[in-house]
Amino acid sequence: MRISHSPLPKPLKITGIKVENASTKTFILGGKLEAQPGQFVMAWLPGHEDKPFSLAAADPICLTIADVGPLSHALHQLHIGDSVWVRGPLGKAYSLPAKSSAKQHTLLIGGGYGVAPLLFLARQALALDYQVSMIIGAKKESDLLLVNDLKTIGVTVWLTTEDGSTGIRGLVTDAIPPLLAESATRPTVVCTCGPTGMLRAVAAVCMAEAIPVQVSWEAHMRCGIGLCGSCEVGQGWLTCLDGPVFPFDPVTVAPNTAIF
Ligand SMILES: Cc1cc2nc3c(=O)[nH]c(=O)nc-3n(C[C@H](O)[C@H](O)[C@H](O)COP(=O)(O)OP(=O)(O)OC[C@H]3O[C@@H](n4cnc5c(N)ncnc54)[C@H](O)[C@@H]3O)c2cc1C
Ligand code: FES
Repeated sequence: MRISHSPLPKPLKITGIKVENASTKTFILGGKLEAQPGQFVMAWLPGHEDKPFSLAAADPICLTIADVGPLSHALHQLHIGDSVWVRGPLGKAYSLPAKSSAKQHTLLIGGGYGVAPLLFLARQALALDYQVSMIIGAKKESDLLLVNDLKTIGVTVWLTTEDGSTGIRGLVTDAIPPLLAESATRPTVVCTCGPTGMLRAVAAVCMAEAIPVQVSWEAHMRCGIGLCGSCEVGQGWLTCLDGPVFPFDPVTVAPNTAIF
């Protein structure tokens, strides 16, 4: 079923569930959307507030969800054939730079379930013949998400773990300098999604290195369509409408720097 943008949630049946790690599952829904990587949907279950979830894929709709609280826990109890109510797609997507004659190198940096929308973006970028690398960070090896999915589609993956159980011991920002030092791996653009502290640290490195960076920001959302103001960040920016993906251009110094 193709669902068009609607202010009302539509019930979609779960057609598949993939266990990603101890706290995260990907739900495959019986519907598709015309959507771009970085956009999100509001998902709802009876008796709960609806909450935003990034699209891990749009055809079919896939949502990768960490079990952290009431709605996400209720979603984790569902089975194939149960329904999830979805409205969207909403928000601004990542935007790949215009193609030049040289192969563009896109570096994706993800932490936690932030890896999910970047898998969607990686698929799109590879289809457009961009060179795609990705740094995935987690506290420990068993928390890492979607590593094999990314490798399988042809993304060069670097891993960082805080406890050193695999990859580079440390944070995602520890894996960036070696990539910047080589012209073959120096990115034309960085797209990132994950916890707020990670986004700030990645944006700071990119701004210092004059590399455009696009961050997917998180804020508490209620309406998801620019009406309630609950997702305001910086000086009057609405995460649901102006974001969640905010571009930072170190040359033009986009006004979104107000967030940081
Ligand atoms: C644009 C956008 C995209 C999002 N995409 C996704 C997505 O793809 N997958 C996904 O799982 N969530 C995503 N979220 C978060 C999601 O909307 C909910 O906030 C989350 O599922 C928690 O909702 P809840 O009702 O289960 O728990 P809540 O009551 O909202 O949270 C319960 C507790 O857990 C804490 N908490 C919330 N999130 C996390 C976390 N990630 N890790 C640890 N503690 C946390 C809260 O601070 C609170 O203390 C996104 C949010 C935004 C704004
Ligand atoms: S969630 Fe209501 S304005 Fe953004």
